[in-house]
This record gives sequence, C-alpha cells and structure tokens, in this order.
Amino acid sequence: MKMVTAVIRPEMFDVVRAALEVEGINGMTVSEVMGRGAQKGIALRFRGKTMPVELIPKVKIEMVVQDADVEKVIRTVRANGRTGKPGDGRIFVLPVESICRVRTDLDDPADP
Ligand SMILES: Nc1ncnc2c1ncn2[C@@H]1O[C@H](COP(=O)(O)OP(=O)(O)OP(=O)(O)O)[C@@H](O)[C@H]1O
Ligand SMILES: [Mg+2]
Repeated sequence: MKMVTAVIRPEMFDVVRAALEVEGINGMTVSEVMGRGAQKGIALRFRGKTMPVELIPKVKIEMVVQDADVEKVIRTVRANGRTGKPGDGRIFVLPVESICRVRTDLDDPADP
C-alpha cells in the first residue's frame, strides 16, 4: 500500500474528488493547508508596490491505496487538477506499513 498525498489548487478540489470517485477512490483525508513550491510563494503587485506572499492556500488530499492504483490516482489528479500554470501542485507517494479500523479488532491490511 502507498500513501498518495496530492497538494492541489483549492478551486480544483471538487472536480478532482469527483473524478477520483469515478475511479473508485473514495477514502481520503482532506485538509486546507498553506504552502509554497519552487516559486517561493508569489509576488503580488498592488498600487505600484510589490508585496511578497510567502504561502499560498492549497488543498491537501491524502489517500492510502493499493500499489496497483497509484498510477491511476496520479493520472486522475493530473488530468483534473491541471491548469498548466505554476502552482498546480505536487503529488507525493510514501510507503504504508499497515492499516487497521477502529470499529473492530480485525486487521484488514489489504483493504485501504
Ligand atoms: N518540496 C516540497 N515539500 C513539501 N511540500 C511541497 C514541496 N514542494 C511543493 N510543496 C507543496 O505543494 C504545493 C504546490 O506547489 P507548487 O505547485 O507551486 O509546486 P512547484 O514545484 O513550484 O511546481 P510549479 O512550478 O508547477 O509551481 C505547495 O504549496 C506546497 O504545499
Ligand atoms: Mg510553484
């Protein structure tokens, strides 16, 4: 299993979530976050002055999925979260050791 963490534009979240659902990806943790990437935030020009904005709002989607589904998740986030401009986001893939459910004592390691 892998943890796929996608940090995307907030305005792209609804369509990305809907597309993931079509692909059978339902379980996720979603957070509103602040972040920066290669551009180190942005420089806003306002009334002739330049104001640095160090952190930009993003939405972070965390999904634990089967290894076989990682490529599908990445493809879906890219296809639906892309504007083509800097700031579209990043996707991180991490190994996951195990999962368990709180409701029962049964471990269900193969079922994210
Ligand atoms: N190295 C990193 N580590 C952790 N989070 C990161 C890293 N790089 C980017 N992020 C997160 O991803 C968000 C989106 O970054 P962003 O899309 O600007 O990436 P980028 O590498 O600058 O790509 P682009 O050139 O398309 O803007 C950031 O706001 C931040 O939350
Ligand atoms: Mg950037």
